[in-house]
Amino acid sequence: MIPKGFLLGAATAAHQVEGNNRLSDYWAQEKLPHTSFAEPSGDACDHYHRYEEDIRLLAEAGLNAYRFSIEWARIEPEEGRFDEEEIGHYRDVIRCCRSFGVEPIVTLMHFTSPVWLIRKGGWEAESTVGYFRRYAAYVAEKLGDELSCVCTINEANMGLQIATISRRFMLMAQQAAAKAKSAEGTVQVGMNFEKMMENMKFAAMENAEVFGTPQPQVFVSARTPEGDALVMRAHRAAKEAIKAVRPGIRVGITLSLHDCQAVKGGEAYADAAWDEEFGHYLPYIEGDDFLGVQNYTRTQYGPGGQLPAPEGAELTQMDYEFYPEALEHVIRRVNEAFRGDIIVTENGIATGDDTRRVEFIRRAMKGVEACIGDGIPVRGYCHWSLLDNFEWQKGYSMTFGLIAVDRTTQERTPKDSLRFLGSYAGTRD
Ligand code: BGC
Repeated sequence: MIPKGFLLGAATAAHQVEGNNRLSDYWAQEKLPHTSFAEPSGDACDHYHRYEEDIRLLAEAGLNAYRFSIEWARIEPEEGRFDEEEIGHYRDVIRCCRSFGVEPIVTLMHFTSPVWLIRKGGWEAESTVGYFRRYAAYVAEKLGDELSCVCTINEANMGLQIATISRRFMLMAQQAAAKAKSAEGTVQVGMNFEKMMENMKFAAMENAEVFGTPQPQVFVSARTPEGDALVMRAHRAAKEAIKAVRPGIRVGITLSLHDCQAVKGGEAYADAAWDEEFGHYLPYIEGDDFLGVQNYTRTQYGPGGQLPAPEGAELTQMDYEFYPEALEHVIRRVNEAFRGDIIVTENGIATGDDTRRVEFIRRAMKGVEACIGDGIPVRGYCHWSLLDNFEWQKGYSMTFGLIAVDRTTQERTPKDSLRFLGSYAGTRD
């Protein structure tokens, strides 16, 4: 049974739903002639103008929490110039939540940054720590009296995960190139590879024009270990800044956490993966009020490293395994080492079949209830996502939403999964 006061909600991120986030690095990258984005974000879900309808639908389904992000590029469009009107917009969103009895959980940085920040070195430049502190302090001063729960940075560990994936991808690309060279008949492989390399060359030139560097360090760039530590210092700086203004606000960070499982002989790989995703961050998050746990699936490791999904496993649109039990495993593992509250800030599935989403929620929530029953301080669950939205480089092809959005009319249609999630509203005292 879910206790009363449990935060049961859904999550979004500004760039993925608001539309026309024109001063951000993502917007710029989507527009490059040799972009790797499937399509530009454009109007997204026009949530910037339709937030009231969206929050109303969430509340009517029985949810009592809404996690959304504030867009830094809107608040500080130029270095040091803060936009009062834009901060006013987010005040309206927060008040709208409260008018429906919904607790706002605000994220300060969900992947997108102002272009000016990236021109100054982005997420590998020490100066970013100070800039992030100043932005966090501004938001706390302007909105702090209306907030009780803030996530500083979304999936602070994403850059390291991308570094690992990039290394694997480069290795595969090199192997493909070697194959293409040796097997003369396989022209297509060679051609695709050349095109890819050519694209990279052009993209580098185009990036240099916009960001002043061929390799801009956006938040989701492959991160160095130094950059990884810098992100965590930015978190701590923001936390200090918020607490200095409003000590009562509960502050945490969110991490992308897989259920890292070993099959026989893969123990060392699985342990190393968990340490990279979670363990080595402990000194930086010690004393935080909560940790935002974000989980979608498991990864398995064998004697040779990471394994593909098991034969015959059900895959989601994102091509990873349908495995909702991962959430319970991750919560338990986090709780062994982290001494604050746990809020599930993201958990979800991309699927065109909403009955699979209902099943995913049923099994994930079973795990959450078991953890609560064992006394683990899980204080909330926010499903990803409230709306079918812009899934970054994959564009609008992935449907994660509890509410469908018609791409031409922007009409909203709540799915059964929204009602189903609402049925978990806390009842126990
Ligand atoms: C991110 C979201 C993203 C979701 C689904 C998380 O990594 O925080 O922005 O849309 O996963 O892929």
